[in-house]
Amino acid sequence: MAMKNVGNSNTFEQTLERRLSRREFGRTSLIAGLTPLALSLNCAGVERKKDSLLAASGRPGRWFESVEPGIDDKLHVPNGYEAQVLLSWGDPLFDAAENFDAHKQTEQAQLRQFGNNCDFVGYLPIEGSEHGLLCVNHEFNWASMMFPGYEAQGGVRDAITEEHARIEMAALGHSVVEIRKVNGLWTIIKGQRNRRISLLETKIEFSGPVMGHKRLRTTQFPDGMRSRGTMANCSGGVTPWGTVLFCEENFADFFEVKHGAAEEKLAYERYAIDTPATFGQFRFDSRFRVDDEPRAPNHYGWVVEYDPYDPQSVPKKRTALGRACREAATVAVSGSGQVAVYSGDDDYFEYLYKFVSKDKYDPNAKAANADLLDEGILYAAKFNDDGTARWIPLIHGLNGLDKSNGFDSQADVLIEARRAADTVGATKMDRPEDVEANPKTGKVYVMLTKNGRRKASMVDAANPFEDNRYGHVLEISPPEDKDGRVDHAAPEFKWEVLIAGGPVSRKASLGAYHADTLSKDAFACPDNCTFDNQGRLWIATDGIQGALNSADGIFVCGTSEEERNLVQRFLRVPSGAEACGPCFTPDAKTLFVSIQHPGFGKGCTFNNPGTRWPDFSPDVPPRPSVIAVVRSDGGEIGG
Ligand code: FEO
Ligand code: CA
Ligand code: CA
Repeated sequence: MAMKNVGNSNTFEQTLERRLSRREFGRTSLIAGLTPLALSLNCAGVERKKDSLLAASGRPGRWFESVEPGIDDKLHVPNGYEAQVLLSWGDPLFDAAENFDAHKQTEQAQLRQFGNNCDFVGYLPIEGSEHGLLCVNHEFNWASMMFPGYEAQGGVRDAITEEHARIEMAALGHSVVEIRKVNGLWTIIKGQRNRRISLLETKIEFSGPVMGHKRLRTTQFPDGMRSRGTMANCSGGVTPWGTVLFCEENFADFFEVKHGAAEEKLAYERYAIDTPATFGQFRFDSRFRVDDEPRAPNHYGWVVEYDPYDPQSVPKKRTALGRACREAATVAVSGSGQVAVYSGDDDYFEYLYKFVSKDKYDPNAKAANADLLDEGILYAAKFNDDGTARWIPLIHGLNGLDKSNGFDSQADVLIEARRAADTVGATKMDRPEDVEANPKTGKVYVMLTKNGRRKASMVDAANPFEDNRYGHVLEISPPEDKDGRVDHAAPEFKWEVLIAGGPVSRKASLGAYHADTLSKDAFACPDNCTFDNQGRLWIATDGIQGALNSADGIFVCGTSEEERNLVQRFLRVPSGAEACGPCFTPDAKTLFVSIQHPGFGKGCTFNNPGTRWPDFSPDVPPRPSVIAVVRSDGGEIGG
C-alpha cells in the first residue's frame, strides 16, 4: 500500500502550519543573552566574536572558535572570519535590469534579478577559485513575505493577484551569476554569462526513457518532448563534466485537482497531487489545474541538467533518474568510470536512490558526457539490520514492476519511482535530504533530517530512533573493485550510523558525539552538506530551533578515525532562516552559504517580519541571500 505524502490543506493558516510543521521553525523573539560574548559588526548584519579564543568551557575549539548557540536577527561567524552578503533576492543580474523595489516589483524586473529563497549553490570555475559562475536554486515563495498587502487576507492561495502569481513564478527556478574576487571581496559581474531560469517561461526538454511518453502529453506539449519551467528547486549537484544538476522537490504544492484522470490516480496519491494546492498559480495557469491537464504533474519531480557555461543551453529533465521529491543529486565516479548519482527523496518514509550510468565518464571530452545520464539503472536502497545493504534495481519486469502492479513499461516505473520503490520493498527512511561523497575516502553520507512520525514499531537499524526529532547521518561504504578503487556502481554496500543529532550529553549507543564535542555545539536536523578537502563534513541544518532552541546554521563534523563525530558550530543564521547549499571554492578559501527565508515564521509578514536581515531598512523585507565566508587572514576555511 502506497504511503501517502504529507497532507495539504487549503487555508492560509493551515498551509502555513503545514510548511512550519514540516520545517518546524516558528516566529522568534530576539533572545538576548544567548550570545554573551562581545560582538562586532563586520558586514551587513554579520557578527563575529571579538574577544577570547577560548570556547565557553575554557577549551579552544579544535578547528576554530565555535559560534555560540542562540537566536537573534544577525548572521554569526567565528572570530577570525568575515561574511559578505554577496547576492540577495532582487539584485539585478544584467546591465539593463532594474534595481529592486519590493513595493513596486514586476514580472519583467524579477526575470532579470536574483530569485527568491536561494537553496543549492554550485561554484563552477572560470579561472580557478577567484573567478567563476555561481549557480543557485530558488526554491519557493511565500506571498505574504514577498508583497505588501496580504496581511489581512485569509488565504494567500485564494487572494493572490495574477500579477503577483506571475512574479512568484519569475522568482523561482535558478540563477547563474558571474562572480570575481577583487581585493579580497567577491563582486558580481552583470553580463552575458548570467542567466535566469524560471517557472514562468524557460523552455525545457525531456530526455531519457520517458521522453515523448503519452504520460507527458499536455495541451501545450502534445508530443511530450518538452516542458515549461521548473519549480521547487531545492538542492542539486555539479557533474565532473562541468554541468549542473538541480532538483524539483515539493512540486505538489502547485497542483489543484478534483478528479484528474483515473489512470493517474495512483500517481496523484503517491506524490500528494490529490490534495489542494498550497499556492495560487493554478487560478491563472491551466498547467496547474489537473482537471484541465491531468498529466501535467508528470512534468515535475525530475532532476534537471544544464550547461552553465552556455547561457543558451536548453535544460534537460533527465528522466532515467526517476521522479521523486528530490532533495539533491550528487555525482560520484566509480573506479570503472561509470557515474553514480545519489539522491534522497525528502519526505517522511521516502527512499534513498542511486542511478548508475551505462556508459563511462570521459574526463577528456566534455561533449562525450553530455547525455551520460540518459541511459543506466535506477536503484532504491534496501538496508539490512546487519549493516549490509543492497541497491534494488527499478527495472520494468523485475521484482514485481510489471502489469500486475500497474507498470506497463520502464516509463511507468520512472514516472512513479516512489511506487516502484514501494513495490520492491526498499527501506522507508527518515526524510532523506542531501547525500555527499567524502573526497578522501569515497564513503557516502546521507542526511536524514528527522521523522517525528516514526513510532517504536516502525524502527529499523538504519532508522533506529523512535520519534526521530533530531535526525541522523548514515555512512555508506561502497565496496572496492578488483583494482582497489571505490565502486560506486556496485549493487551492494555496507553502512553504519555516523552520528545522531540532539544534545551532546544524551546517552547514545549509536551515533554518539566525539568526547571533545562541547555541549553548546549540539546539532540537529541535517539538511544540505558538503565536504572540505580534509574530509570533514559540513552540515547545514533546517529545524534546530524546534529541536534545540537555537537558530539553524552550519556545523562541521569530523569523519576521520581520530576526529570522528567531533562537531563544532561554524555559522548561525538569522532568526527564521535555514542554512542551505554550503559550497567551497576549490582552494577552500571561500565558503558560500544560502540563507533561505530569513524572518519567516508564524505570524510574520512583509510588514512584520521576524528580522529585516540583511538590509535592516524599514522599507525592505528580509531578503534571502547567498553569503561568502572567508578567513580574515585569507587562509583555508576551517584551518
Ligand atoms: Fe527543500 Fe528537503 O529541503
Ligand atoms: Ca530541508
Ligand atoms: Ca533542503
